[in-house]
Amino acid sequence: EKQGFKHFMLKEIYEQPGVVRACLEAYFTNTEKSSESPINLGLPTDFYADLAQIHIVACGTSWHAALVGKYLLEQLAGISTQVHYASEYRYAPSPLTPNTLIVGVTQSGETADTLAALAMEKERRQGQEPQYQARLLGITNRPESSLGLMVPHIINTLAGIEIGVAATKTFIAQLMAFYALALDLAARRQTVPLEKLVEIITGLRQIPKEIEATLESQESLTEHLAHDFAETKDFIFLGRGINFPIALEGALKLKEISYIHAEGYPAGEMKHGPIALLDSKVPVVAIAVPGSVYEKVISNAQEAKARDSRLIGVTPVKDGEAAEIFNDLLPVSSVDELLSPILTVVPLQLLAYHIAARRGLDVDQPRNLAKSVTVE
Ligand code: M6R
Repeated sequence: EKQGFKHFMLKEIYEQPGVVRACLEAYFTNTEKSSESPINLGLPTDFYADLAQIHIVACGTSWHAALVGKYLLEQLAGISTQVHYASEYRYAPSPLTPNTLIVGVTQSGETADTLAALAMEKERRQGQEPQYQARLLGITNRPESSLGLMVPHIINTLAGIEIGVAATKTFIAQLMAFYALALDLAARRQTVPLEKLVEIITGLRQIPKEIEATLESQESLTEHLAHDFAETKDFIFLGRGINFPIALEGALKLKEISYIHAEGYPAGEMKHGPIALLDSKVPVVAIAVPGSVYEKVISNAQEAKARDSRLIGVTPVKDGEAAEIFNDLLPVSSVDELLSPILTVVPLQLLAYHIAARRGLDVDQPRNLAKSVTVE
């Protein structure tokens, strides 16, 4: 079943181009037609009516996908969006607001905290004025799950079954669901000019090929780098803007399968404490892609280098000048900043995988973890 791959996780990382293709085909069906929106998520037209804000509840990697979603929903569709840990939100929800969409993100559809947070929202909104009624949406890889039974609308993430405990292809598919949701809202609310929307969708259609190219170029690079980190105790991952959640995701992947302590940080926050951790024993992975915060990330990375950290850059290779500051490069192609998370996460998945495999660990079944966390 592993089709020649040593572990399911690696196989699933390699399935990602196909997953993006499946999502593109399913969600972006209206592109050529002159409909209100080029996206078709099968949601009723009144679903978005008067939408004022969005709350997203999730755990773990799904929570990271939600953070990318927040960036897209706010920056493209102009809707104020909050992302909550489901385990926190269920006991301390935000005050009730009208015209609010609640989104639960869970690949398994069985995560106890996420289901409980959604059930709590549903219940407390029952019997309220119509504008306060629950508008619930689920984003899941298993529409037949408990989540599917609980919410009236689902975006099916089409990743196929994921066996490795570390979420990889389901994360990429969740990102695709958020691109579709944010672009659909942006089209209907006309917050982004049509040409820009078409440009983004055209860019998304190139992503499967770009992931393939990334996989091809990164496999041996990350495997090679992994040799050097067999004894490393701590890692820091830095990103900003839409790539801040990818720094969190890179750190989570590494800690759950390699048992190395890792922290993801918004690069600008380093100087407020964590920079004290840095020395030659603590490598820093910085995600630096051209766009609104590129120079900022580069200068934050330089600060880390000045503390003797080995600096690994997830950055377009063509950018010779900036690339020179990095000790090692995990190059990705230069794409629209908005689309970059789908690419920048790939080398981080591979890096975590190869470090764990190098350490001889059970990559698909890491200690203390289960594929779905059905208890509180
Ligand atoms: O099934 P879910 O998406 O609700 O799972 C949430 C987390 O348990 C999950 O993402 C976990 O963090 C993964 N093992 C991360 O790789």
